[in-house]
Amino acid sequence: MGQIRSELETLEGSSVLITGGAGFIGSHLADQLVDYCDVTVLDDLSNGNRDYVPEAANFVRGDIREGETLGRAFEGIDIVFHQAAIVSVNESVENPIESHETNLDATLTILEEARKHDVRVVLASSTAIYGEPETLPVSEEDSKTPSSPYGLDKLALDHYARLYNELYGLETVALRYFNVYGPRQGSGPYGGVISIFVDQALSGEPITIHGEGTQTRDFVHVSDVVQANIRAATTDVVGEAFNVGTGTEISILELAKLIRDVSDSDSELVHESARPGDVSKSRADIQRIQNRLDFTPEVTLEEGLRNLVEFRQNSEADD
Ligand code: NAD
Ligand code: UD1
Repeated sequence: MGQIRSELETLEGSSVLITGGAGFIGSHLADQLVDYCDVTVLDDLSNGNRDYVPEAANFVRGDIREGETLGRAFEGIDIVFHQAAIVSVNESVENPIESHETNLDATLTILEEARKHDVRVVLASSTAIYGEPETLPVSEEDSKTPSSPYGLDKLALDHYARLYNELYGLETVALRYFNVYGPRQGSGPYGGVISIFVDQALSGEPITIHGEGTQTRDFVHVSDVVQANIRAATTDVVGEAFNVGTGTEISILELAKLIRDVSDSDSELVHESARPGDVSKSRADIQRIQNRLDFTPEVTLEEGLRNLVEFRQNSEADD
């Protein structure tokens, strides 16, 4: 993180609110910011873990769908990193209304609170807004036809961020994360594929590939996503949205084999039915974020997987 030291120093003394800060990405962001800023985490712990919140942060257990809770959390805040969401594409297909209330309605209230308190907002958007890409790599200007309620709500969030900048001059930056992975990501039925595969490989269970496994993803390490957030918090380029990925892709079948190798596992690979709403390919064009936010992904997939396998082995040893 040496390369973002100057950005972190710019943030020194700020008060920041991280919604979803007990979750996977939000807690890594809190870890990075807590030595420089006054950090408040707002999370209902529906998918987060209190133990992930650094001790030096203020923790508020609350629901972003409750206006009063949000209003109180915004008092004295300079920047909000809005990470809270129901993150599973699959879950949004099963429960579109619940997903909408958290992923979009609550985001609009957050933007309103930010407008009232003049707070910069960095929002977690997603590659899911693009739906099935027509060409690769996917650039920010490409067509957007989300194939899940989750993607549709993130698309509206992304547009609202731009609109709040245009209409009210609010400083907003939307970060369109591609597939994020790393320690603390959930591995349950609604977890990320890498966490699921690593757990399966380490326990010798079959690795469950949806469909043929020819679908591709651009996997970006959580530390690089934290880097992007910190750059977004300090940039002069506001009212914009940026892809956050690596510019590389791997098929799910290749990923399964790589994880098996890295974890020295002999798990068999099994194919299950393909998932409804699943996009078949994904790879980010990252020129805009490279040029305008000076972002460079630092962790290669193989390096990130090795670290993750080691992390999971150590946490199992601690249990
Ligand atoms: P996560 O589930 O680990 O973190 C989300 C956090 O939000 C959880 O701690 C959960 O308890 C909290 N939360 C959920 N609903 C809430 C509510 N109503 N009120 C308060 N807190 C609530 O997921 P993550 O992977 O860390 O995702 C963070 C953000 O990044 C999300 O907005 C997600 O949509 C986005 N994103 C993630 C990925 C990825 O690959 N992980 C990719 C693209 C975008
Ligand atoms: C993920 C994120 C979502 C984000 C999106 C951006 C999670 C839980 N979801 O969705 O928040 O906006 O990236 O692209 O992190 N797969 C298998 N076997 C499994 C599990 C998954 O083959 O056991 C496949 C899926 O069918 C899919 C791929 O792996 O093709 C990735 O799945 P997943 O990790 O759930 O990510 P996305 O659906 O891309």
